[in-house]
Amino acid sequence: MTLSRREFVQAAAAIGASLAWCGPARASRTNWRERRDLYPEGVASGDPDPTSVILWTRRPFPLGTRQELTVEVAEDRQFRRVVASTRVPVLASADWTARVLVGKLKPAAIYWYRFTDADGNGSRIGRTITAPEANDPRQVNFAFVSCQDVNEGKLNAYRRMIFEDERKPPAEQLGFVLHLGDFIYEVVEYPEEVKTRYDRTIYEVARIPDGGQVGHFHFPLTVEGYRAVYKGYLADPDLQDARARWPFVAMWDNHEFSWQGWQSIQQAGGISRPGQSIKVAANQAWWEYLPSRCKKSGGTSWEHFEAPAVANVVIKKWDENGLGDEPNNLIAINSLIGYRTFRYGKHLDLIITDQHSYHGPDPFSDDSLNKLGDWAAYGGWFPEDLQQALDGGRAFNGGNPPAELAFGETRIPNPQKDAPPQTILGAEQKAWFKDQLKRATATWKIWGNSQGALDERVDPQNLPAGLLAKPWPAGFVNASPNDYGCAWMERGEIYDLVRDAKITGFAIISGDRHSFWAGYATSQLPPGKFEPVGLSFVGASLSSAGTMEALEHRPPNKFPLRQLYLVDRPGSAKPDWTYNMLLKHGVRSVLEYAKSFDIKRARAVSNPELSPHLEFIDTGGHGYATVRLSSDEMRTEFVCIPRPITRSDHPDGGPLRYRVVHTASLWKPGERPQLKVQVLEGDVGLSI
Ligand SMILES: [Fe+2]
Repeated sequence: MTLSRREFVQAAAAIGASLAWCGPARASRTNWRERRDLYPEGVASGDPDPTSVILWTRRPFPLGTRQELTVEVAEDRQFRRVVASTRVPVLASADWTARVLVGKLKPAAIYWYRFTDADGNGSRIGRTITAPEANDPRQVNFAFVSCQDVNEGKLNAYRRMIFEDERKPPAEQLGFVLHLGDFIYEVVEYPEEVKTRYDRTIYEVARIPDGGQVGHFHFPLTVEGYRAVYKGYLADPDLQDARARWPFVAMWDNHEFSWQGWQSIQQAGGISRPGQSIKVAANQAWWEYLPSRCKKSGGTSWEHFEAPAVANVVIKKWDENGLGDEPNNLIAINSLIGYRTFRYGKHLDLIITDQHSYHGPDPFSDDSLNKLGDWAAYGGWFPEDLQQALDGGRAFNGGNPPAELAFGETRIPNPQKDAPPQTILGAEQKAWFKDQLKRATATWKIWGNSQGALDERVDPQNLPAGLLAKPWPAGFVNASPNDYGCAWMERGEIYDLVRDAKITGFAIISGDRHSFWAGYATSQLPPGKFEPVGLSFVGASLSSAGTMEALEHRPPNKFPLRQLYLVDRPGSAKPDWTYNMLLKHGVRSVLEYAKSFDIKRARAVSNPELSPHLEFIDTGGHGYATVRLSSDEMRTEFVCIPRPITRSDHPDGGPLRYRVVHTASLWKPGERPQLKVQVLEGDVGLSI
């Protein structure tokens, strides 16, 4: 698609970017001298299309409210062939950040850019890449990442990603980095208040002005608070280097606003409050620090966010789709629209959704459910069939929901019997998503969904007698952390559309779970019909602590079934992560492994009904994933590093734990997608 100049100006206005228009190449005329100290958050680029990309920097000035920089875009790193050069305002009201949309660039081309102030003080040089044209048949390469907690870890994964990319042939180098959220964690620990958590050292990130607090976590309530957190995160040198090397395509997860927040409700560790102004502040800071084509509602300024005024009003009314029917809520959640699509050559249509701003009420938290069973005695397990009934609400079982829920001998009235089915996308976004999916024409239709969509399943019904104080009186358990892994009805609606519209090449990529998963998108699992319609992946955290690290620190007396999660192998310094085997193979395999430490014997008693949707699972992994798409294959590589507690001083980011590749040939409508898993290096433990 080639935009006319008029359309380009309109596009820039809609996203609030300044504008640079490419012309004939000429040598740089600025007096640029690099002064990284004056651009403390570095440079970045975002949301490339075939002819344009957004460039970003921050240059704070001690005085005044408005200053100007010059941005230059060149075809060479020496800036002898500068193709665009323009003035860009930086405003105190945007925390001195700048966004420039550069247009009329060549498709699938590498460009170099830098900013210079009136005195010749220059930013570092950034590199960016435009998208290929829609008919470009070359393979597409990108990385997907998430969860970069620098309060509790280091970003060695970016260092590794840069090291490997620099050494790849050009056709295999990454075109962009898809960031699936938790770019920041708004809950910040202060090192003098808490020194460690799990295996982690607490590092200084930021001081939050006028914030709130729950336990050791401080969180923002104003735009200044969020800005402080972004600045703290962007001080990380590995993150700065990654942003200077590739364009990022980013979508927020939960922590860009609020830990357990949804719509405009701010929720963290038991605190819940109407947070319309907090949601607007979170959106403003995200818009200021992450260059994107997301549309803001606050006018068409190219220079600052123009936050809409909202009051923090309790939401009392919910509409048929779980949307909080309160004017300030609607203004807040629509102050920045994150969901959007990207076409990237012949082989990629990328559809990105927002999993939090339109998320309906949680159907799984009614107090009456505590009367149904002593869930703590079962390690927090809850029966999958009951959870599915709660998820489906009044639409469950074809509109005939059960009047009561039963667990063993106990019964309670079904608290969701008259409630609308759970929605995470919300009605409007869901309709948009389905429409985009139907219209996608690239070989691969990839859904960038920040939340993992694969069921986390356990089979306690197969536990031998005597292991539990009281036997488990139900069937499978879904242990997903209330994310897309238990959005059965909404997920099923989308998967059925994929099947019925005969869409091939459908795959989900996601983050959030701090673990690596590879498998299949399916509406149902046994005893229902296992009918995969696509692939589904979860990328591990770049740095944030995951499930296994938390479990290793759980006191043994609070761990009645510890061997299902961890077992101590004689002679081994660390326990084996049997939880990975539990999720893929079930309790019988784990109990066999805990006895014999023989993987083959353990897998021989695998429960085939448990997780036919999983090929690979590592709930203790960290790192990143890369994707290569071609006319006939999707290749997804998990690059796993050890727990990133301290910064590696090696140029390659330190050692790898393993590298595993999942390949799938493109399937025909009606055929079943099939992944082939290959461990290229290292030890994947009990992940397969
Ligand atoms: Fe996270």
